[in-house]
Amino acid sequence: RRIMKYGVGMSGTFLAIILAAGEGTRMRSSLPKVLHKVGGLAMVGHVIHAVKDAGCQKMALVVGNGAEKVSAEAGALGVAMDTFIQTERLGTAHAVLAAKDAIASGQMDVIIGYGDTPLVTSDLFKSISDCLTAGADVAVLGFETEQPTGYGRLLMKGDQLMAIREEKDASDEERKVTFCNSGIMGLKGDHALALLEAIGNDNLKGEYYLTDAVEIARERNLDVRAVSGAEEDTLGVNNRAELSEAEEIYQSRRRLQFMLDGVTLRAPDTVHFAFDTEIGRDTIIEPNCFFAPGVKIADGVMIKANSYFEGDLKKGLYVEISTGAEIGPYARLRPGADIGEDVKVGNFCEVKNAKVAKGAKINHLTYIGDSELGEGCNIGAGTITCNYDGFSKFKTIIGAGAFVGSNSSLVAPVTISKGAYIGSGSVITKDVPNDALGLARGRQVQLDGWASAFRAKNAK
Ligand code: UD1
Ligand code: MG
Repeated sequence: RRIMKYGVGMSGTFLAIILAAGEGTRMRSSLPKVLHKVGGLAMVGHVIHAVKDAGCQKMALVVGNGAEKVSAEAGALGVAMDTFIQTERLGTAHAVLAAKDAIASGQMDVIIGYGDTPLVTSDLFKSISDCLTAGADVAVLGFETEQPTGYGRLLMKGDQLMAIREEKDASDEERKVTFCNSGIMGLKGDHALALLEAIGNDNLKGEYYLTDAVEIARERNLDVRAVSGAEEDTLGVNNRAELSEAEEIYQSRRRLQFMLDGVTLRAPDTVHFAFDTEIGRDTIIEPNCFFAPGVKIADGVMIKANSYFEGDLKKGLYVEISTGAEIGPYARLRPGADIGEDVKVGNFCEVKNAKVAKGAKINHLTYIGDSELGEGCNIGAGTITCNYDGFSKFKTIIGAGAFVGSNSSLVAPVTISKGAYIGSGSVITKDVPNDALGLARGRQVQLDGWASAFRAKNAK
C-alpha cells in the first residue's frame, strides 16, 4: 500500500537541504546536537555523506546553534555545499526557509534530511527522489515501529499521505499509529516554495512544522506519497540514550561488513571501528580493540587483544600498519605511527609520529615518539625516546640493525647509527656512530665481603 515501486535509476537531480540548527536541549550538552559522534564522525557528517552518495546536485546546510562549529566540521568533510543560518529556532519549516535562496529557482526537486539521523543511507534519499520523479508532488520517508513515541505519525488514506501529526498534537487514536515520519521529505521543485511559505505555527509547540507541508499539499489536491524505509536506518537521536543506540547499530553494521570482506573478528561485539577505518583481508583482530578515526591496516596483520588505535584527521596524520605486522596485546598506536612489514609492537608499547621500518621489534613497555627506526632494529624493554622538553619536540633516529638495550632513555635530538649497540640502562644524549657501543650509566663497583660485614654490624 505504501511502497511505490518505480525501479531504480530514475531519480532526478535534486537539491538536498540538511537541517542542523536545532539546539538539542535533551542532549544536555554544550556541543550542538548534530556534532555528537557516531563511529567517530559527527551525526551530521553521516547525513552529508549519505546525501552526497545519493547523487544530489546541490547541497544546503542549515546551521544555527553553534553555527561556526557545525560549519567547520561540515567544511572539513570536503563536500561542496552552501551554508545558511537560521537565526531563531522556530521549527523545521522555518529552518528549511533559511535556505530559501537555494529553493527559489524552483528548478530542482528539494529533499530535506535532518542532521540528527546518523544511520540514514543514500538509498533512502534515492527512493524519495525516485518517488518525485515518478510523479509525486510530495514524498515522505516513513517507517514502521513498535515504539513510535516522539515521532510524527503518518496518517494514510489509500495511497495518499493525508497528514503528519506530531506526537504532542496527536489525538489518542492518532497516537496508536505506528507508521512514523523519518524526517526525510521530498518536495517537487515547482511546488516547494509555495508549500513551505504556507506553513503556520498554530500548534502546541508554536513552531513552524515542516511536517505540515503534507496537509497543505493535500488541501491543494497534490499527490502526496509515503515511502517505507527500515526503522533502523531512520533512528533520530534526541538524547544520549538514543545516541548510544545509534552507535550500537552503526558498530554492528561495520563489524558485519569487515567480516564479510575477509577480516577475522574473534569477539566482534567488543571491537569498535570508526567511519573511516580501513582493514585488509586476512587481518585478525582479537577482543577489545578500539579504532578511532584515521587508521589504515593492510592485509594479513595480527592485532592482539586490548589495543587502541587513533589517527588525527585534523592534522592529516594516520596510523598505518603494513602486512605481517603483529601488534599488541595492550598496544597503543597514535597519530603518525607508520608501522612497516613484519614489525612487532608488543605489550604496553606506545608509538606516535614514528616511521618503523620492516622487521623492527618494539616488544615491551616502550615509548617511541617522533622517531625513525631502521630495518630490523631491536628496541629493548622499557626504552623511552625522550622527545619533549616541555616546549618543543625533538627527533630520534635509530639505524637499521641497531640494538637498544633495555631500560634506556634516548634523549632527543639524537641519532643511533646502523648496527650500533646501546648498553642497558643508558641515558643517551650524544649521537652513537655505526657499529659502536654507546654506554651511559654508572660503572658497577664490587666490595667483597661487604654484605656479611653489614649484617654483622646491624645484628649487634
Ligand atoms: C522531527 C519531526 C518528526 C519526526 C522526527 C524524526 C518535525 C516537526 N517533526 O521531530 O515528525 O518523526 O523528526 O526524527 O519536523 N532543526 C533545525 N531548526 C529548528 C528545529 C529543528 O535546524 O528550528 C533541526 C534539528 O537540528 C534536527 C532536525 O531539525 O536535526 C529535527 O529537529 P528535532 O527537534 O530533532 O525534531 P523531532 O522532535 O525529532
Ligand atoms: Mg530529532
